[in-house]
Amino acid sequence: MKEIDLKGRDFLKLLDYTPEEISYLVDLAATYKMNKHEGVLHDTLRGKNVALIFEKTSTRTRCSFEVAAHDLGMGTTYLDPSASQISKKESIADTARVLSGMFDGIEYRGYGQDIVEELAKFASVPVWNGLTNEFHPTQMLADLLTIKECFGRFKGLKIAYMGDARYNMGNSWMVTCAKMGMEFAACAPKSYWPDPALIETCKKIAEENGGTIGFYEDAMEGVKDADVVYTDVWVSMGEPDEVWAERIRELSPYQVNKKIMEQAGKRAVFMHCLPAYHDLKTEIGKAKGEQFGFTELEVTDEVFESEQSVVFQEAENRMHTIKAVMAATLGADKA
Ligand code: CP
Ligand code: NVA
Repeated sequence: MKEIDLKGRDFLKLLDYTPEEISYLVDLAATYKMNKHEGVLHDTLRGKNVALIFEKTSTRTRCSFEVAAHDLGMGTTYLDPSASQISKKESIADTARVLSGMFDGIEYRGYGQDIVEELAKFASVPVWNGLTNEFHPTQMLADLLTIKECFGRFKGLKIAYMGDARYNMGNSWMVTCAKMGMEFAACAPKSYWPDPALIETCKKIAEENGGTIGFYEDAMEGVKDADVVYTDVWVSMGEPDEVWAERIRELSPYQVNKKIMEQAGKRAVFMHCLPAYHDLKTEIGKAKGEQFGFTELEVTDEVFESEQSVVFQEAENRMHTIKAVMAATLGADKA
């Protein structure tokens, strides 16, 4: 088999990676996870530094990049655009060239995919996508590692993606299923299906890898016999407040509840990239719950807290997989 070498590569979306390269990163993450749990040090990138740009808020992704970088021996600088020159006084192209002179890698979380692609075009060091409106590729690696831990394989598994299938998570899952030979079953109203051009691209990729891409307006039909029931928030970061009412109205039939999990079956797991509105214990959840009269939204508290839910294992895996991405693209996996 051809040796996988990802040194110097950007990590912007899974469309840019082969199934073998994706599997390689997941397996590398599993090794890092074992080492971390056993207390085996792996600070092979001592002396290097990474810049972490976050134009949107984050808990998991930021902490994962910081902890993973520190475990690898690297320094980190967190850049909050409200307190830096990015976009206001300095273009992405100029920022890319400035940061490339000081750092060995750059993480970017923000709005359009075109911004992170522009950053990568002008940077001379690897750029990693920490989430854009269109894609969330590091989340996909964590989800794949979790699925491998649960089922031992990818090929042939069915992922039922519930709710807003046309944003970063839905798009990313469609690409992932196409690449890894899985069945993507999006359960959503037609207006929440991904961009037709991306669907076409993914259908072609799926054909090559033994995957399938399907869409269901009937949630009970689409979720039948799914191995993974996946959902995400119905209103994503950066979307206007006004969309809440229509999202609740249009996506409520796709809530992950006991009935949906029963239709998937006993061996199915529940996954969510998090954060989740499964109760009213958050500021926004409480305010919106009072305004619209709900107590749980995209997933019920019962499912979220159930034995079938692997959401915290999935969250931990963010760190191990992000570590694998940084290590491989900075060449530490061959050290
Ligand atoms: N899942 C995820 O990306 O979480 P954060 O927004 O907390 O980084
Ligand atoms: N779709 C969500 C994902 C959060 C990890 C958002 O963009 O806010």
